[in-house]
Amino acid sequence: MRIGMLTGGGDCPGLNAVIRAVVRHSIKNYKSELVGFLEGWRGPIENKVMPLNLDNTSGILHKGGTILKSSRTNPFKVDKGPEKIMENMKQNNLDALIAIGGEDTCGVAHKMFTQYQLNVVCVPKTIDNDLSATDFTFGFDTAVNIVMECVDRLHSTAESHDRILVCEVMGRHAGWIACYGGIAGGADFICVPEKPINLSELVKAVKNRHANGKKFSIIVAAEGAKLAEAEILKDKELDAFGHVKLGGIGEQLAKLIEKETGFETRSTTLGHIQRGGSPTAFDRVLGTRFGVKATDLVHTKKFGTMVALNGNQIVDVPVEAGVGTLKTLDMDLYKTASIFFG
Ligand code: F6P
Repeated sequence: MRIGMLTGGGDCPGLNAVIRAVVRHSIKNYKSELVGFLEGWRGPIENKVMPLNLDNTSGILHKGGTILKSSRTNPFKVDKGPEKIMENMKQNNLDALIAIGGEDTCGVAHKMFTQYQLNVVCVPKTIDNDLSATDFTFGFDTAVNIVMECVDRLHSTAESHDRILVCEVMGRHAGWIACYGGIAGGADFICVPEKPINLSELVKAVKNRHANGKKFSIIVAAEGAKLAEAEILKDKELDAFGHVKLGGIGEQLAKLIEKETGFETRSTTLGHIQRGGSPTAFDRVLGTRFGVKATDLVHTKKFGTMVALNGNQIVDVPVEAGVGTLKTLDMDLYKTASIFFG
């Protein structure tokens, strides 16, 4: 077979592990050939390709980012985008495509499968961990470990200066990173998109710590967490999928907390630091297992599917199961986290 592969949407650590696994397994065990499409869906629209072989996919397992580059291109917003994809699949003599991405990339793959009969298999990735039908996406564990390390570092400086430090983390619709990172880092309060921020509860937690002799606190806030009465959107520009660029809740919270408590409060936004660098062992293993499974699915012609983690098993599900609704935070986990607030 000849198989195309692309990585779309926000990058995350572990993408190269998937690419390497697909190439290695396809060439060694199925004698197939691979073509890499560059820059997400822009690749198959504009026929931007690179060869993928054992040589150029060796030594990439530990590297962050993606050797195929990425973009948030939406083919359904490009004139004749889907038709151009089908044309370029033919032009490159490709029998199938492996699309590695999140909600948006897999959503496009689903539409291409149902409306244009593209032979596609999806691999779910996102640091946000908000894709349905899989227990975890790769990239999430690395992001959580980065948040944990940063929260550890914030602790020592917060303590030296008797400050409240707000740490803003990624997660536009789901509080998985905030909750896991907050629990692991020992946050004193966690704000998530799934629960409107109750400022008086937060202020009470901070004051309670002060009353008990702890003159510093760490608050972890997801970028998508909302204060009911505040305007949190810094920049209303939309991307090709209609998402607003987020950012700013940390700063707003810091000002409000300082005003309400009288304690010096600062904010730190971790931003893309959470997406960069080397993947953890967990993400390398998950990415590798996903890549191997996606390769098997392509060679057994099980198209329109997405690989997924179910418990400790790698399974396949129809791609629409992954993209229909977002997997928001398990509020039982938030309840566990809240035992440690204040
Ligand atoms: O979807 C992953 C993610 O990192 C989100 O957590 C974040 O809101 C968004 O991407 C940022 O996107 P960009 O890198 O395009 O600014």
